[in-house]
Amino acid sequence: MRRGSIVRITIYGVIAGTLASLVAVLVPWLPTSASEEMDRIEFTFWFTTVICIAIFAIVAAAITYSVLKFRAADDDERDGPPIHGHTGLEIVWTAIPAVLVTAISVVSAVVLAKNDDVGENPLRIAVTAQQFAWKFEYPDETTSGRLVLPVNQGVRLTLRSLDVIHSFWVPEFGQKSDAVPGIETTLTITPTRIGNYSLVCTELCGLGHATMRARVQVVSRADYEAFLESVAGGGSAPGGAGDGAAVFASAGCGGCHAFEPAGTDAAVGPSLDDLKGDAASIRASIVDPSATLAPGYQDGVMPTTFGSSLSDEQLDAPVQYLADRETE
Ligand code: CUA
Repeated sequence: MRRGSIVRITIYGVIAGTLASLVAVLVPWLPTSASEEMDRIEFTFWFTTVICIAIFAIVAAAITYSVLKFRAADDDERDGPPIHGHTGLEIVWTAIPAVLVTAISVVSAVVLAKNDDVGENPLRIAVTAQQFAWKFEYPDETTSGRLVLPVNQGVRLTLRSLDVIHSFWVPEFGQKSDAVPGIETTLTITPTRIGNYSLVCTELCGLGHATMRARVQVVSRADYEAFLESVAGGGSAPGGAGDGAAVFASAGCGGCHAFEPAGTDAAVGPSLDDLKGDAASIRASIVDPSATLAPGYQDGVMPTTFGSSLSDEQLDAPVQYLADRETE
């Protein structure tokens, strides 16, 4: 091959590689990482992307060169020359991808293993998914509809589902796992950045799938302890208004309903601030949400399992909490 051809192929390759690199770098494809696991996942992405850009540049250069160099003249009606392959080239373009794919598999396997390893003394939090809410149970048995994690602490989540398959995903944490009825799955997360995030369900699980979200907060160790105390404190006065607020929070009601005393303003379900009806009808609506639907709201979005997942006393508390509000 003449020297001029090699120079031209190189120029095409550099142009193609630069364009592809700009697309990779300038577009924010991934959310800003907030966990050690996401850092490793990002590394894997970039490792693979760099290899892909190199291959793309070589292929684009060869194609561009061939199209320009071997183009037939306008009046050329002859068949192209018969070509019988090139053993040397075939060995090269089989061997190089084999090596690269192996390298990607090795890096991925190492990252997968590391991302599953939570180290010594992880914080263990039990996650329960159901249509269409998340519940989190902390080591001291406090439960909440919010996931609060101390920063720089390895966390081991155990995921369970009460009905169908759901999937746990906080984009900034990278890690994702299904919650499958009948088995317990696990997920490791080591948050590295204080802030607010969103947990989204990523498995189509029914009518309310798109609303199945929960707030996730990464906080300092001191704020984490304070959070646990505030949630546990709310339930310490049996029968009191605090109890109702605690069940309201732990059952995840605020994820969908606006209710001023609880400080929630979600609009997935009807607002509870202008609730009509007595304690009995409120209770009936919690146990069987389909029986009396608020106008404009779809059936099948609110969980139908509160009648069985909450005890009688646990149900009394939020019912009273809501009914009291109405008569004020
Ligand atoms: Cu739960 Cu989608």
